[in-house]
Amino acid sequence: MKVVTVKNAQEGGKIAFTLLKEKMAQGIQTLGLATGSTPETFYQEIRQSDLDFSEMTSINLDEYVGLDQSSDQSYAYFMKQHLFDAKPFKMSYLPDGKATDLEAAAKDYDRIIAENPIDFQILGIGRNGHIGFNEPGTSFDKTTHVVDLAPSTIEANSRFFDSSDDVPKQAMSMGIASIMASKTIVLLAFGSEKADAIKGMVEGSVTEELPASVLQNHADVIVIVDEAAASKLA
Ligand code: GLP
Repeated sequence: MKVVTVKNAQEGGKIAFTLLKEKMAQGIQTLGLATGSTPETFYQEIRQSDLDFSEMTSINLDEYVGLDQSSDQSYAYFMKQHLFDAKPFKMSYLPDGKATDLEAAAKDYDRIIAENPIDFQILGIGRNGHIGFNEPGTSFDKTTHVVDLAPSTIEANSRFFDSSDDVPKQAMSMGIASIMASKTIVLLAFGSEKADAIKGMVEGSVTEELPASVLQNHADVIVIVDEAAASKLA
C-alpha cells in the first residue's frame, strides 16, 4: 500500500487524475467509480480535461435501495451531475436499487463485473472503515449484495437528505471480493473524521471489523490522503 500525503482535496483530485491519465494512455478499458464528497475534486479534474471515455465502461460501487434514479440523492443522479453528463462512457453501470428482485439484480451486477474486469477502481472510505457500502463485519468473500446500512453511516450520509429518517436503510454494494479483483485501486480520504479509519486501514491488522484493512492484501493500492486524514499515522 503506497500512501501519498497531499495538502488538500484539490491536490488529491489532481494526483488521482494524473494516475488515471497514465493508465488510460496504457489502454485500460473499465473504471470502477465511487460517489460521496471525496471524489468530487477528481471528477472536477476529469470534467475539465480532454479525456475521452466514449470507448470505455464504468461500473459504480453502490446505490441506495428504493431511490429512483431521478432522485437527486441517488448515486445515479450524482454520477450524471459530476461526470456522465460531461463525459459519457460507452456503457455505465450502477446497481439497480429499484429492482423488484434485489437478489437477482445483485447476481446480474456480478455478471457485469465478470464481463468487464475493473482496471482502475476509485474508492472513498467511510468513517467506520467501510468501502463501497461494505460495513464492518462484512465477509471479505462477498460479491454484490444488499446491505443494511450501519446507524453511523446513515447519520454521516444524512447531510445529503432533509433528515436522517429520509436516508434509505439499505443499499446494494459491490462486495469486497469484487473490489479486491480490480487491478489498481486508488483510495482517497480527506478530513480529520477519516483519520481513525485511515490509521486502522494502513497500520492496523487486517480484519473484517475494518473493511478497508483488506486492501493491505492487494498488490497495487495507492492511498491519497490530506494531512488531516493522515494525522494519526505513525
Ligand atoms: C458513502 C459511500 C462510500 C463513500 C463513503 C464516504 O456511504 N457509500 O462509497 O466512500 O460513504 O463518503 P464521503 O466521501 O462523502 O465522506
